[in-house]
Amino acid sequence: MSSNLNVGIVGTGIFARDRHLPSYQEYPDKFKVVAAFNRTKSKALEFAAKASIPEDKVYDDVDGLMSDKDVDYIDALLPVQFNVDTVKKAIAHNKPIILEKPVAANMKQAREMVELSDSTELPIGIGENWLFLDCIQEAAKHLDRIGPVVAFTHNSTGPFVRDNKYLTTNWRQNPEHIGGFLSDGGVHQLALVTSLVGEFDTVSALTRQIRKESGADDIVFGTVKVKDSDVIGSFTYGSAFGATEKSVFLKIYGVNGSILVDVSNKTEPVIKVRVGDFLETAQKEEVHKVEVDDSFGVNKEFLNFHEAVAKRDKTLLKSTPRIAFHHLAVVAAFLESSAKKGDHVQVERI
Ligand SMILES: NC(=O)c1ccc[n+]([C@@H]2O[C@H](COP(=O)([O-])OP(=O)(O)OC[C@H]3O[C@@H](n4cnc5c(N)ncnc54)[C@H](OP(=O)(O)O)[C@@H]3O)[C@@H](O)[C@H]2O)c1
Repeated sequence: MSSNLNVGIVGTGIFARDRHLPSYQEYPDKFKVVAAFNRTKSKALEFAAKASIPEDKVYDDVDGLMSDKDVDYIDALLPVQFNVDTVKKAIAHNKPIILEKPVAANMKQAREMVELSDSTELPIGIGENWLFLDCIQEAAKHLDRIGPVVAFTHNSTGPFVRDNKYLTTNWRQNPEHIGGFLSDGGVHQLALVTSLVGEFDTVSALTRQIRKESGADDIVFGTVKVKDSDVIGSFTYGSAFGATEKSVFLKIYGVNGSILVDVSNKTEPVIKVRVGDFLETAQKEEVHKVEVDDSFGVNKEFLNFHEAVAKRDKTLLKSTPRIAFHHLAVVAAFLESSAKKGDHVQVERI
């Protein structure tokens, strides 16, 4: 397959227009957006004008776009209850596909997505761009120095932003996906945390809804045990509070020091490392600044997907349905635990 891949977009909403298209346009030697479909055609036509897609490549239905021989792969950005059906269509048309997160709307669909992905050699990717953040690799370099790791604190809290362009979408305010905002944004946080401390085994959590606009519970305070280890931790997530500074960090504690991954300021993530087994033996704090581009991982996610498609090797994919399954399973476990007044519950495995 040529290394310049032609992309067909399904769902030309905000994220397609404001993030995916600019990311593709940054790599003209690798990607060309050549076709589009959207439920409301006028929006697809506006998108096509921006992307220089000819009008005859703006399709009236998904099957039309997927039948287009010029399209090498599909990029679907829909409310996620449509992910499974869209993947089934892509497989039927023998097209690789990348879909937006979370992996699916519920655990039954998430399981089906993993099974569909296992059933084909086509690359099927989930757009969990936080898996591609450089701060994960930078922090991982220091884990052995502070180890053994014993615990972590994760915190992602922020104020409710009434006019946020994403928060005001109808499908987010009336979610068909479990967890609503907790899974919409929470899977990103879970990508960061589980990449560094491992997958979760059991959780105990309380969730509640603060804003009616959220349509579902919008904050979670949980405790966690990591799979196949003694590591314990806490996970806090919610952007539904009143005025407060945005505070997004993961602190990992070891017997021999600690690592702070602070992404509160998205444009300047910082890693702080302290090594030493006691206060008295602590070395000077190290501060490692991490490069980040505007796409916050999307560019790297696309380059990874490009490689898997161009080499026809799905094993190269970093953001698979199986990995994304765990992130949604944790949100499901938080909700189940909260419904049981904070009992410890097992995170569903696959
Ligand atoms: N990775 C990230 O950081 C990130 C950030 C933002 C969004 N996303 C993901 O990107 C996807 C799109 O989100 P968005 O923010 O761009 O939302 P959006 O602007 O509301 O776009 C949603 C798209 O889905 C279409 N759609 C909605 N309901 C539909 C239905 N019943 N049948 C067929 N099509 C339907 C909409 O078509 P109409 O134009 O006809 O309504 C629109 O094209 C979501 O999966 C979201 O999770 C990811």
